[in-house]
Amino acid sequence: MRAELTLGLPGGRCLRPLQEADADELHALIERNRDELARWMQWAQEQTPADTLAFIKRSLAREADNHALQRAIVADERIAGVLGLREIDWANRCAEISYWLDEGHQGQGIMTSALAALVRHAFDEQRLNRLEIRADVENAPSRALAERLGFRYEGTLRQAYRVTAARYSDDAVYSMLAADRAQPGARLDESR
Ligand SMILES: CC(C)(COP(=O)(O)OP(=O)(O)OC[C@H]1O[C@@H](n2cnc3c(N)ncnc32)[C@H](O)[C@@H]1OP(=O)(O)O)[C@@H](O)C(=O)NCCC(=O)NCCS
Repeated sequence: MRAELTLGLPGGRCLRPLQEADADELHALIERNRDELARWMQWAQEQTPADTLAFIKRSLAREADNHALQRAIVADERIAGVLGLREIDWANRCAEISYWLDEGHQGQGIMTSALAALVRHAFDEQRLNRLEIRADVENAPSRALAERLGFRYEGTLRQAYRVTAARYSDDAVYSMLAADRAQPGARLDESR
């Protein structure tokens, strides 16, 4: 099933599709957050403006094929971060979620509500069965986010991700299944 274009969030914020015209604004945000992003994400080490535009184009093409779903998190009419289903595996009806938020917008619950909206969409509209989050075991805010919404910790993949040439991260794997929504630990509806 095709995705809705824009998902509303509390406080007048929203998740909307990226456009090629966002490339400069998005890249400026990456530059401002580069040190923190590069602690956890390989792509952030050396991402150029051309790479940011290529990311947007690739995301749009992947979404047209229904194989990915990337959304800009918009707050006060500016892009504050990116959240998405980076790869949808339709054979198994599962997807991995990735996200990052501008430091100036952290600590306010914005990503909690954005992630909850994406998860509801993935289960209710796209009929996926399993959503996965992988976070560096040392990335406490990311792990707290997954746990806050009721994702279950499944285990740790050792040196699963090459963050830099000198460092592999051990990744904590979290999942939520469509059936988990009925379980007491799932807190997707409180984040509307
Ligand atoms: C991971 C990341 C998105 C988490 O951001 P965040 O600001 O902690 O997440 P939220 O926007 O949901 O905010 C949660 C915080 O707001 C607080 N908060 C305030 N109001 C809230 C509300 N209504 N609902 C939920 N939390 C609320 C929470 O208590 C929490 O603060 P705390 O960590 O001090 O307890 C952010 O740290 C980030 O972008 N990091 C760099 C990139 C990265 O690591 N990406 C993940 C790779 S796996």
